[in-house]
Amino acid sequence: MTPDEFRHYGHEAVDWIAGYLENPGRYPVFPKVEPGELIDALPKCAPEKGEPVEKLLEDFRSLVVPGMTHWNHPGFMAYFAITGSGPGILGEMLSAALNVNGMLWRTSPAATELEQVALGWLRQWIGLPDNFFGIIYDTASISSMHAIAAARELAEPEARVRGGTGNLTLYTSEQAHSSIEKGAIAIGIGQRNVRKIPVDEAFRMRVDLLEEAIEKDLAAGLRPFCVAATVGTTSTTSVDPLDPIADLTERHNLWLHVDAAYGGGAAILPEFQHILAGARRADSVVTNPHKWLFTPADLSAFFTRRPDILRRAFSLIPEYLRTPDQPRAVNFMDYGVQLGRRFRALKLWFVMRYFGREGVSELIRKHIGWAQELASWIDADARFERSAPAPFSVVCFRLKGSDDDNRRLLDRVNASGEVFLSHTALHGRFVLRLAIGNIATTHAHVERAWELVRQAV
Ligand SMILES: Cc1ncc(COP(=O)(O)O)c(C=O)c1O
Repeated sequence: MTPDEFRHYGHEAVDWIAGYLENPGRYPVFPKVEPGELIDALPKCAPEKGEPVEKLLEDFRSLVVPGMTHWNHPGFMAYFAITGSGPGILGEMLSAALNVNGMLWRTSPAATELEQVALGWLRQWIGLPDNFFGIIYDTASISSMHAIAAARELAEPEARVRGGTGNLTLYTSEQAHSSIEKGAIAIGIGQRNVRKIPVDEAFRMRVDLLEEAIEKDLAAGLRPFCVAATVGTTSTTSVDPLDPIADLTERHNLWLHVDAAYGGGAAILPEFQHILAGARRADSVVTNPHKWLFTPADLSAFFTRRPDILRRAFSLIPEYLRTPDQPRAVNFMDYGVQLGRRFRALKLWFVMRYFGREGVSELIRKHIGWAQELASWIDADARFERSAPAPFSVVCFRLKGSDDDNRRLLDRVNASGEVFLSHTALHGRFVLRLAIGNIATTHAHVERAWELVRQAV
């Protein structure tokens, strides 16, 4: 592609993006397609001869876009309503153009240092002290897996060479994200050594039961090594009591990992900083700017007070990657499984500079405020009940009726194409979940979602 051609089609692509973001609500949020539809519409083999870019862009518009679930849609209120933003997309574009591999400082000094700068800023925004080292991974699942690997390195350093003994035990709440258990599977801890601690009436980990479980395992000759607490659990966004948990992990010398994949965004607001206050005592913390910080997927920020242990767990340097020792030159490949690394920091840096802390806080504050309003509307309608407290921007509720009634209600609401809600199970019952977090969502969209729910009844 010549530079002139690139310029021409680049402008066309940017025009398309701008038009799309101007009104993503013109598409149904959830596509009306059947499984296999796109596969059947596309050729079985790649072309022998190159095709014109017009054709590529045309097929993108006419075949791919209609098959998308539109996460940019203002009515996208399912799972966590993650959101990108203009500055984030620009950062992503420029980083694709540079196409560097930031495995070593010398393979792209500015990529490495911008990662340090952007994560240093984010660390300050969420109120973590400056002895936390930051690194970007793709997702919170991978961040938490690295936390578990570092925790094991601290508890059982021989495991790196010899393999694990299989008697380390990990603790998390029964409301924790499945990525904690998956991390334990991947690191070889074993599912049978993952203890899922019951929660209280607000879905927070019960510290008394955590203590009991640790003591029981110790008495049985097992080796507790890690507690993974959550700030903003996936189903209800509950917040585990970090300080009492940290009292325990400090007493028993366990690694404390805090999964704030979603909740970390709220900690940027001065009035919500307290949710991560106890995380200062943690060994590691993860938060996902690709969830609630207007940064396009993917970008997960991992912070640890023990970078020495993380490095000890993962550093393995073949001759062809050896570089001179320079104290200020960080080689991020030493701090994780992957060698090659995308230049993700650029988009986060753009987002943080474009919005500033005030701009980001204003948006997140609105999302939380609208969720609280929605919660009050639900409370005022006798046909519904709320299923959990709503500390942030997610509301869990159900129609007073059977699970099947609620399933049908959800299907009917989603069939509108105007909004997309998801569900969870709480106390064994089917519960609707409405998550606000998209940059395009306004108060009117939340009102409309509630109207659609009431109509569907
Ligand atoms: C609390 C929590 N932790 C971890 C994850 C996993 O995030 P990721 O998709 O970045 O792996 C999620 C996803 O929603 C989550 O809610």
